[in-house]
Amino acid sequence: MDPRSNPYSPGAGLRPTELAGRDDDIESFEILIDRAEAGRPTRSMIFTGLRGVGKTVLLQDLAGRAEQRGWITARVEADRGSGPTSFTDGLSRSLATSLRREQGRGATKGRLRSALRTVTSFSMSFNPDGAVSLGFDVDAAKGRADSGSLYADLTDLALDLGDAAVELDVGVAVFIDEMQDLTAEELSAVCRACHETGQRSVPWFVIGCGLPNLPGALAAAESYAERLFEYRVIDRLAKPAAHAALTNPAKFEGVDWEPDAAAYVVAQSAGYPYFIQQFGQSTWNDAAASPISRGDAERGVQVGFAQLDTGFFRARWDRATPSEREYLGAMAVDGDGPSASGEVARRIGKKPTSLGPTRANLINKGIVYAPEHGQIAFTVPGMSKFIERRTPEA
Ligand SMILES: Nc1ncnc2c1ncn2[C@@H]1O[C@H](COP(=O)(O)OP(=O)(O)OP(=O)(O)O)[C@@H](O)[C@H]1O
Ligand SMILES: [Mg+2]
Repeated sequence: MDPRSNPYSPGAGLRPTELAGRDDDIESFEILIDRAEAGRPTRSMIFTGLRGVGKTVLLQDLAGRAEQRGWITARVEADRGSGPTSFTDGLSRSLATSLRREQGRGATKGRLRSALRTVTSFSMSFNPDGAVSLGFDVDAAKGRADSGSLYADLTDLALDLGDAAVELDVGVAVFIDEMQDLTAEELSAVCRACHETGQRSVPWFVIGCGLPNLPGALAAAESYAERLFEYRVIDRLAKPAAHAALTNPAKFEGVDWEPDAAAYVVAQSAGYPYFIQQFGQSTWNDAAASPISRGDAERGVQVGFAQLDTGFFRARWDRATPSEREYLGAMAVDGDGPSASGEVARRIGKKPTSLGPTRANLINKGIVYAPEHGQIAFTVPGMSKFIERRTPEA
């Protein structure tokens, strides 16, 4: 069928036609908004899951909801490779845009103006050149968010923005993607800001997404982090949701899936949203007409796996050095894992300590993560099968 009307969207952060199976997560966030607006205490939220389960698209959806409600928002993506000021810079710019939007709506209240001053001084204190480009005709606020210590300044920023939000009958929500890539200092500052605002019932919230090691990283940064956030796991979709994710986008285009064709793709995808999009896309392109048959689905899944092998999996494999690949191969013995680091070392015939740098490099490259102390696992589902499938020299 015509690829131009193909409704599937395998990719990073590409919004699916049908955001399936996330109603409970969306409802939890709506409850946060409603409670905050009613002045009731509520916790910030952390979503964790493997690569390709749909954390980014969920976060974007929630951010859109907060914006619709007129909230002051910021969207930031943590990035290990982009220098020490990337978090503070991204945060200041995104908050600035949101505050300008509030001003554009005619909000000129006193606290909004002082919040603008605090954002300016926060921005100046970490990115001396950045404040100018924020373009505010307001002076920096002396003594607010200008100590140069992120730990103290982020809390000032949170308190001042939260006060401005109260005056506008809204709240502040900061959405952080790839949050596991924040430094320990940044994580600790985020915790402190949430802790201080929570104690004073100031409506400032962080909605973070990250790999499954994020709760551990937060707990290592601040011991009370465990109680500070509502943690939710973003997982593969249960069968009915996976079915909806596959068949509804086609339905909008007037195309049906025969029941056993849909059941086959849902089973092969194991409910992973990225795989559903990939298999849906390749099956659609291969099928001649509606309804999509079981034969179409089988060919589509085959093409889909070939595309995952050359893209999704291959991209990670290609980033690994020969010794890192040896490490990944030793992990693959355990399927999707997790593996015990000591056991992986034993398989390779080396001491765990001598493999420390290899393991650390693989973690830095985002290919594996440590679910718990002494354990190691792949960040993408199906990586072990990919390693088994590929010919040794591919
Ligand atoms: N609930 C869903 N229903 C249907 N498709 C989805 C859903 N969530 C995500 N997808 C699709 O899955 C793919 C991956 O989504 P996304 O980029 O949000 O994952 P992610 O968890 O952020 O991955 P990464 O950890 O690599 O950043 C996209 O193609 C997206 O369209
Ligand atoms: Mg993402």
